[in-house]
Amino acid sequence: MYIDLTTEDKPTVYSHLVGGITPRPIAWVSTLSADGIGNIAPYSFFTVASVNPPVLSVTQVNPADHKNKDTLNNLLATKECVINIVSHQQVEQMNQSCANYSHSVSEFEAANIESTASKRVKPLSVKASKVRYECTLREVITISELPAGGQIMLLNVIGIYVADSVLRDGYIDPQALSTVGKMGGDYFVQTNDLFSLARPIV
Ligand SMILES: Cc1cc2nc3c(=O)[nH]c(=O)nc-3n(C[C@H](O)[C@H](O)[C@H](O)COP(=O)(O)O)c2cc1C
Repeated sequence: MYIDLTTEDKPTVYSHLVGGITPRPIAWVSTLSADGIGNIAPYSFFTVASVNPPVLSVTQVNPADHKNKDTLNNLLATKECVINIVSHQQVEQMNQSCANYSHSVSEFEAANIESTASKRVKPLSVKASKVRYECTLREVITISELPAGGQIMLLNVIGIYVADSVLRDGYIDPQALSTVGKMGGDYFVQTNDLFSLARPIV
């Protein structure tokens, strides 16, 4: 099968993008609204955009109603967030936090997510999350304002929390972190089948 993007309908394009581009890491993004209400939601269109300076990228896929999601609204209003990394122990709460709660409801309370104060930003961190990136908003790049269009939130990393329990010789041990990844449909993947492959030396 070959998918011709000049004729294909959008749901098919979506399913073939998220079904093939896998596994995707999950940014569990915590923000604060202008009125001080905490918000947290998972975003798997997420990666490192730059190391020097350290910048992360998280993409909102625009809702059909042309309104931004709370995460982007909050970032535009208060400019700060925490990207909490999701280990397999947090997967149920992470999934619960994607429900479309009203703006006035904090998912921390609705999904019973234990929080802790962050060090350099106001949004709360997930206490159980073993790696957390404290960020400020750098820029939003709008690919398209249409439904399903992407708005890329570029985030400056200003501090990184790493739990001692996942550190081995100063590095993050992938076995101990046990991150969860997003696959197509409702599928997720656990990272418990690791193998090592050294880069070739020429
Ligand atoms: C694992 C997972 C990954 C998701 N990734 C994205 C994403 O990359 N972009 C997006 O716009 N929505 C994504 N969603 C849906 C949002 O989490 C959902 O729309 C949520 O209600 C947004 O919350 P907010 O309005 O508090 O920002 C994802 C949901 C789940 C469960």
